[in-house]
Amino acid sequence: MTVTANVIEAVHEDLVSMIRRTKAMPILVRLAWHDCGDYDARLGTGGANGSIRFEKEMQHGGNAGLPGALNLLKPIKEKHPGIGWADLIQYASVLSIEVAGGPKIPLKFGRIDAQSENDVPPEGRLPGGGPPFHKAEGEHPNAPADDPDSAPAHLRRVFYRMGFNDQEIVALSGAHTIGRAFKFRSGFGAGEEGTKFTNRVQGVTKGGSSWTEEWLKFDNTYYTILIDPNADPELLKLPTDKALMEDPEFNKYVQVYAKDQNKFFEDYIKAHLKLSELGAKWDPPGGFRP
Ligand code: HEM
Repeated sequence: MTVTANVIEAVHEDLVSMIRRTKAMPILVRLAWHDCGDYDARLGTGGANGSIRFEKEMQHGGNAGLPGALNLLKPIKEKHPGIGWADLIQYASVLSIEVAGGPKIPLKFGRIDAQSENDVPPEGRLPGGGPPFHKAEGEHPNAPADDPDSAPAHLRRVFYRMGFNDQEIVALSGAHTIGRAFKFRSGFGAGEEGTKFTNRVQGVTKGGSSWTEEWLKFDNTYYTILIDPNADPELLKLPTDKALMEDPEFNKYVQVYAKDQNKFFEDYIKAHLKLSELGAKWDPPGGFRP
Protein backbone atom coordinates (compact mmCIF):
# COMPACT_ATOMS: atom_id res chain seq x y z
CA MET A 1 0.00 0.00 0.00
CA THR A 2 1.54 3.30 -1.09
CA VAL A 3 0.38 6.42 0.73
CA THR A 4 -1.21 9.02 -1.58
CA ALA A 5 -1.34 12.82 -1.54
CA ASN A 6 -5.10 12.64 -0.90
CA VAL A 7 -4.65 10.51 2.21
CA ILE A 8 -1.93 12.86 3.47
CA GLU A 9 -4.23 15.86 3.01
CA ALA A 10 -7.07 14.19 4.95
CA VAL A 11 -4.68 13.13 7.73
CA HIS A 12 -3.33 16.69 7.91
CA GLU A 13 -6.74 18.04 8.81
CA ASP A 14 -7.38 15.47 11.54
CA LEU A 15 -3.90 15.80 13.03
CA VAL A 16 -4.02 19.60 13.21
CA SER A 17 -7.43 19.61 14.88
CA MET A 18 -6.34 16.93 17.40
CA ILE A 19 -3.11 18.85 18.17
CA ARG A 20 -4.97 22.15 18.69
CA ARG A 21 -7.56 20.45 20.91
CA THR A 22 -5.10 18.53 23.11
CA LYS A 23 -2.05 20.89 23.07
CA ALA A 24 -0.03 17.67 22.94
CA MET A 25 2.68 19.13 20.69
CA PRO A 26 5.64 18.32 22.98
CA ILE A 27 4.83 14.69 23.60
CA LEU A 28 4.06 14.07 19.92
CA VAL A 29 7.49 15.48 19.03
CA ARG A 30 9.07 13.26 21.65
CA LEU A 31 7.22 10.16 20.38
CA ALA A 32 8.61 10.71 16.87
CA TRP A 33 12.15 11.37 18.10
CA HIS A 34 12.14 8.19 20.17
CA ASP A 35 10.93 6.14 17.19
CA CYS A 36 14.01 7.39 15.25
CA GLY A 37 16.53 7.75 18.07
CA ASP A 38 17.23 4.02 18.39
CA TYR A 39 18.93 3.99 14.98
CA ASP A 40 22.37 2.45 14.61
CA ALA A 41 24.00 3.64 11.38
CA ARG A 42 26.58 0.83 11.29
CA LEU A 43 24.17 -2.00 11.99
CA GLY A 44 21.35 -0.40 9.99
CA THR A 45 18.83 -1.30 12.69
CA GLY A 46 16.19 0.85 14.42
CA GLY A 47 15.11 4.22 13.04
CA ALA A 48 11.93 5.77 11.67
CA ASN A 49 9.92 2.61 11.19
CA GLY A 50 7.01 2.89 13.64
CA SER A 51 8.41 0.15 15.90
CA ILE A 52 7.63 2.33 18.92
CA ARG A 53 3.97 1.27 18.55
CA PHE A 54 4.90 -2.19 19.82
CA GLU A 55 4.47 -2.85 23.53
CA LYS A 56 7.99 -4.27 23.73
CA GLU A 57 9.53 -0.92 22.70
CA MET A 58 7.03 1.24 24.61
CA GLN A 59 8.12 -0.51 27.78
CA HIS A 60 11.71 0.71 27.43
CA GLY A 61 12.39 2.98 30.44
CA GLY A 62 13.09 6.04 28.24
CA ASN A 63 9.60 5.86 26.72
CA ALA A 64 7.67 6.53 29.95
CA GLY A 65 4.65 8.72 29.19
CA LEU A 66 4.68 8.03 25.45
CA PRO A 67 1.74 5.55 25.36
CA GLY A 68 -0.48 8.62 25.87
CA ALA A 69 0.88 10.14 22.66
CA LEU A 70 0.36 6.92 20.71
CA ASN A 71 -3.24 6.74 21.95
CA LEU A 72 -3.92 10.17 20.44
CA LEU A 73 -2.85 8.82 17.05
CA LYS A 74 -4.73 5.51 17.13
CA PRO A 75 -8.17 6.86 16.06
CA ILE A 76 -6.54 8.79 13.21
CA LYS A 77 -4.71 5.66 12.03
CA GLU A 78 -7.96 3.69 12.16
CA LYS A 79 -9.79 6.35 10.15
CA HIS A 80 -6.96 6.58 7.58
CA PRO A 81 -5.50 3.08 7.12
CA GLY A 82 -3.77 4.32 3.95
CA ILE A 83 -1.00 6.02 5.95
CA GLY A 84 1.59 3.89 7.74
CA TRP A 85 2.45 4.21 11.41
CA ALA A 86 5.98 5.47 10.78
CA ASP A 87 4.73 8.29 8.52
CA LEU A 88 1.86 9.17 10.85
CA ILE A 89 4.16 9.47 13.87
CA GLN A 90 6.59 11.70 11.97
CA TYR A 91 3.78 13.79 10.45
CA ALA A 92 2.25 14.44 13.89
CA SER A 93 5.65 15.70 15.06
CA VAL A 94 6.32 18.18 12.24
CA LEU A 95 2.75 19.49 12.39
CA SER A 96 3.12 19.92 16.16
CA ILE A 97 6.19 22.08 15.62
CA GLU A 98 4.29 24.15 13.05
CA VAL A 99 1.23 24.54 15.31
CA ALA A 100 3.59 25.67 18.10
CA GLY A 101 4.84 28.49 15.86
CA GLY A 102 7.99 26.76 14.64
CA PRO A 103 9.19 26.25 11.09
CA LYS A 104 7.31 24.24 8.47
CA ILE A 105 9.33 21.06 7.95
CA PRO A 106 8.89 19.55 4.46
CA LEU A 107 8.47 15.92 5.52
CA LYS A 108 8.99 13.07 3.10
CA PHE A 109 6.40 10.24 3.07
CA GLY A 110 6.39 6.55 2.26
CA ARG A 111 8.24 4.97 5.22
CA ILE A 112 7.72 1.21 5.35
CA ASP A 113 6.49 0.11 8.79
CA ALA A 114 8.29 -2.38 11.00
CA GLN A 115 6.12 -5.48 10.95
CA SER A 116 6.67 -7.10 14.34
CA GLU A 117 8.35 -6.90 17.72
CA ASN A 118 11.35 -8.63 16.14
CA ASP A 119 12.22 -5.22 14.66
CA VAL A 120 12.43 -3.59 18.11
CA PRO A 121 16.11 -2.83 18.84
CA PRO A 122 17.62 -3.58 22.25
CA GLU A 123 16.90 -1.11 25.04
CA GLY A 124 19.56 1.47 25.88
CA ARG A 125 20.10 3.34 22.62
CA LEU A 126 18.39 6.61 23.67
CA PRO A 127 20.34 9.24 25.59
CA GLY A 128 20.05 9.61 29.35
CA GLY A 129 19.52 13.10 30.81
CA GLY A 130 22.01 12.83 33.68
CA PRO A 131 24.76 10.71 35.21
CA PRO A 132 25.54 7.92 35.65
CA PHE A 133 25.35 7.68 31.86
CA HIS A 134 24.78 4.21 30.50
CA LYS A 135 27.07 2.73 27.93
CA ALA A 136 25.16 3.50 24.74
CA GLU A 137 24.24 0.24 23.07
CA GLY A 138 25.79 -0.09 19.59
CA GLU A 139 28.42 2.65 19.82
CA HIS A 140 30.20 4.47 16.99
CA PRO A 141 33.94 3.80 16.49
CA ASN A 142 34.79 7.54 16.59
CA ALA A 143 32.76 8.17 19.72
CA PRO A 144 34.62 9.25 22.84
CA ALA A 145 35.51 6.62 25.42
CA ASP A 146 32.81 5.55 27.81
CA ASP A 147 32.73 7.89 30.81
CA PRO A 148 29.76 7.51 33.14
CA ASP A 149 30.15 11.10 34.37
CA SER A 150 30.63 13.04 31.14
CA ALA A 151 27.46 14.38 29.54
CA PRO A 152 29.21 15.67 26.35
CA ALA A 153 30.84 12.26 25.83
CA HIS A 154 27.48 10.55 26.33
CA LEU A 155 25.74 12.82 23.81
CA ARG A 156 28.49 12.17 21.27
CA ARG A 157 28.37 8.41 21.79
CA VAL A 158 24.62 8.30 21.27
CA PHE A 159 24.25 10.81 18.41
CA TYR A 160 27.39 9.86 16.44
CA ARG A 161 25.99 6.30 16.40
CA MET A 162 22.95 7.71 14.55
CA GLY A 163 25.23 9.59 12.13
CA PHE A 164 24.88 13.13 13.56
CA ASN A 165 27.64 15.69 14.21
CA ASP A 166 28.14 18.25 17.00
CA GLN A 167 26.21 21.04 15.26
CA GLU A 168 23.24 18.74 14.68
CA ILE A 169 23.29 17.61 18.33
CA VAL A 170 22.95 21.24 19.43
CA ALA A 171 20.24 22.04 16.86
CA LEU A 172 18.13 18.99 17.76
CA SER A 173 18.42 19.72 21.48
CA GLY A 174 16.58 22.98 20.72
CA ALA A 175 13.38 20.90 20.54
CA HIS A 176 13.35 21.27 24.34
CA THR A 177 12.09 24.79 23.71
CA ILE A 178 8.71 23.03 24.02
CA GLY A 179 7.57 20.57 26.63
CA ARG A 180 8.25 19.45 30.15
CA ALA A 181 10.04 16.81 32.21
CA PHE A 182 8.11 15.03 34.95
CA LYS A 183 9.60 13.48 38.07
CA PHE A 184 7.16 10.58 37.79
CA ARG A 185 8.24 9.82 34.19
CA SER A 186 11.93 10.49 33.67
CA GLY A 187 12.89 11.39 37.23
CA PHE A 188 13.72 14.96 36.14
CA GLY A 189 11.74 18.12 36.85
CA ALA A 190 8.83 18.75 39.20
CA GLY A 191 6.09 16.29 40.04
CA GLU A 192 2.36 17.11 40.05
CA GLU A 193 3.03 20.37 41.89
CA GLY A 194 4.56 21.84 38.72
CA THR A 195 6.16 25.28 38.48
CA LYS A 196 4.79 28.78 37.96
CA PHE A 197 5.36 28.26 34.23
CA THR A 198 3.83 24.81 33.82
CA ASN A 199 0.86 25.55 36.10
CA ARG A 200 -0.38 28.46 34.06
CA VAL A 201 -1.44 26.32 31.10
CA GLN A 202 -4.88 24.76 31.55
CA GLY A 203 -6.26 21.64 29.91
CA VAL A 204 -3.02 19.59 29.92
CA THR A 205 -1.50 16.94 32.25
CA LYS A 206 -0.64 18.69 35.50
CA GLY A 207 2.86 19.38 36.67
CA GLY A 208 6.41 18.98 35.45
CA SER A 209 9.12 21.53 34.76
CA SER A 210 9.69 23.25 31.43
CA TRP A 211 12.90 24.45 29.85
CA THR A 212 11.28 27.75 28.79
CA GLU A 213 8.57 30.11 30.04
CA GLU A 214 6.33 29.78 26.95
CA TRP A 215 6.73 26.05 26.68
CA LEU A 216 4.09 25.49 24.01
CA LYS A 217 5.82 27.95 21.67
CA PHE A 218 8.59 26.72 19.36
CA ASP A 219 11.30 29.40 19.18
CA ASN A 220 14.97 29.81 20.15
CA THR A 221 14.41 30.58 23.84
CA TYR A 222 15.89 27.18 24.82
CA TYR A 223 19.27 28.72 23.91
CA THR A 224 18.72 32.22 25.31
CA ILE A 225 17.82 30.64 28.67
CA LEU A 226 20.75 28.24 28.50
CA ILE A 227 23.26 31.11 28.17
CA ASP A 228 21.53 33.27 30.82
CA PRO A 229 23.23 32.81 34.21
CA ASN A 230 20.28 34.60 35.85
CA ALA A 231 17.60 32.39 34.27
CA ASP A 232 14.68 31.63 36.59
CA PRO A 233 15.68 28.62 38.73
CA GLU A 234 12.25 27.07 38.13
CA LEU A 235 13.28 26.52 34.50
CA LEU A 236 14.83 23.15 33.79
CA LYS A 237 18.40 22.49 32.70
CA LEU A 238 19.27 18.80 32.46
CA PRO A 239 22.94 17.84 32.80
CA THR A 240 22.86 17.11 29.06
CA ASP A 241 21.49 20.62 28.39
CA LYS A 242 24.23 22.20 30.51
CA ALA A 243 26.76 20.11 28.62
CA LEU A 244 25.99 22.17 25.52
CA MET A 245 27.20 25.27 27.37
CA GLU A 246 30.20 23.61 29.00
CA ASP A 247 31.69 21.86 25.98
CA PRO A 248 33.50 24.45 23.78
CA GLU A 249 32.56 22.79 20.49
CA PHE A 250 28.84 22.56 21.41
CA ASN A 251 28.93 26.05 22.94
CA LYS A 252 29.82 27.68 19.60
CA TYR A 253 26.47 26.60 18.16
CA VAL A 254 24.51 27.51 21.30
CA GLN A 255 25.79 31.10 20.91
CA VAL A 256 24.78 31.22 17.24
CA TYR A 257 21.26 29.88 17.85
CA ALA A 258 20.71 32.15 20.88
CA LYS A 259 21.44 35.20 18.71
CA ASP A 260 19.78 34.16 15.48
CA GLN A 261 16.43 32.38 15.50
CA ASN A 262 16.31 32.21 11.70
CA LYS A 263 19.61 30.34 11.63
CA PHE A 264 18.28 27.98 14.33
CA PHE A 265 15.13 27.29 12.30
CA GLU A 266 17.15 26.75 9.11
CA ASP A 267 19.50 24.24 10.81
CA TYR A 268 16.70 22.66 12.84
CA ILE A 269 14.71 21.85 9.69
CA LYS A 270 17.69 20.03 8.15
CA ALA A 271 18.56 18.10 11.32
CA HIS A 272 14.92 17.19 11.98
CA LEU A 273 14.43 15.93 8.41
CA LYS A 274 17.54 13.77 8.76
CA LEU A 275 16.27 12.44 12.10
CA SER A 276 12.86 11.68 10.58
CA GLU A 277 14.47 9.57 7.83
CA LEU A 278 17.02 7.57 9.84
CA GLY A 279 17.07 3.98 8.66
CA ALA A 280 13.83 4.40 6.70
CA LYS A 281 12.98 2.09 3.83
CA TRP A 282 10.58 3.63 1.33
CA ASP A 283 7.57 2.83 -0.81
CA PRO A 284 7.80 4.34 -3.44
CA PRO A 285 11.61 3.96 -3.48
CA GLY A 286 13.22 7.13 -2.08
CA GLY A 287 9.89 8.34 -0.66
CA PHE A 288 7.96 11.37 -1.93
CA ARG A 289 6.79 14.85 -0.98
CA PRO A 290 3.14 15.60 -1.76
C1 HEM B 1 20.10 15.43 23.63
C2 HEM B 1 19.69 14.37 24.29
C3 HEM B 1 18.34 14.34 24.92
C4 HEM B 1 18.06 14.02 26.21
C5 HEM B 1 19.06 13.54 27.25
C6 HEM B 1 16.65 14.21 26.41
C7 HEM B 1 15.99 13.97 27.59
C8 HEM B 1 14.68 14.29 27.85
C9 HEM B 1 14.01 14.09 29.11
C10 HEM B 1 14.63 13.50 30.36
C11 HEM B 1 12.72 14.54 28.96
C12 HEM B 1 11.62 14.53 30.00
C13 HEM B 1 10.66 13.38 29.77
C14 HEM B 1 9.58 13.27 30.82
O1 HEM B 1 9.87 13.38 32.02
O2 HEM B 1 8.40 13.06 30.41
C15 HEM B 1 12.60 15.03 27.61
C16 HEM B 1 11.46 15.58 27.09
C17 HEM B 1 11.34 16.02 25.79
N1 HEM B 1 12.27 15.83 24.77
FE1 HEM B 1 14.20 15.30 25.02
N2 HEM B 1 16.08 14.64 25.24
C18 HEM B 1 17.08 14.72 24.30
C19 HEM B 1 16.93 15.06 22.98
C20 HEM B 1 15.73 15.39 22.38
C21 HEM B 1 15.53 15.55 20.96
C22 HEM B 1 16.60 15.30 19.90
C23 HEM B 1 14.23 15.91 20.79
C24 HEM B 1 13.46 16.19 19.51
C25 HEM B 1 14.03 16.48 18.35
C26 HEM B 1 13.62 15.97 22.11
C27 HEM B 1 12.33 16.35 22.37
C28 HEM B 1 11.75 16.36 23.62
C29 HEM B 1 10.44 16.95 23.90
C30 HEM B 1 9.56 17.70 22.91
C31 HEM B 1 10.19 16.72 25.27
C32 HEM B 1 8.96 17.13 26.07
C33 HEM B 1 7.95 16.02 26.17
C34 HEM B 1 6.71 16.38 26.99
O3 HEM B 1 6.49 17.55 27.31
O4 HEM B 1 5.94 15.45 27.29
N3 HEM B 1 14.55 15.63 23.04
N4 HEM B 1 13.79 14.85 26.95
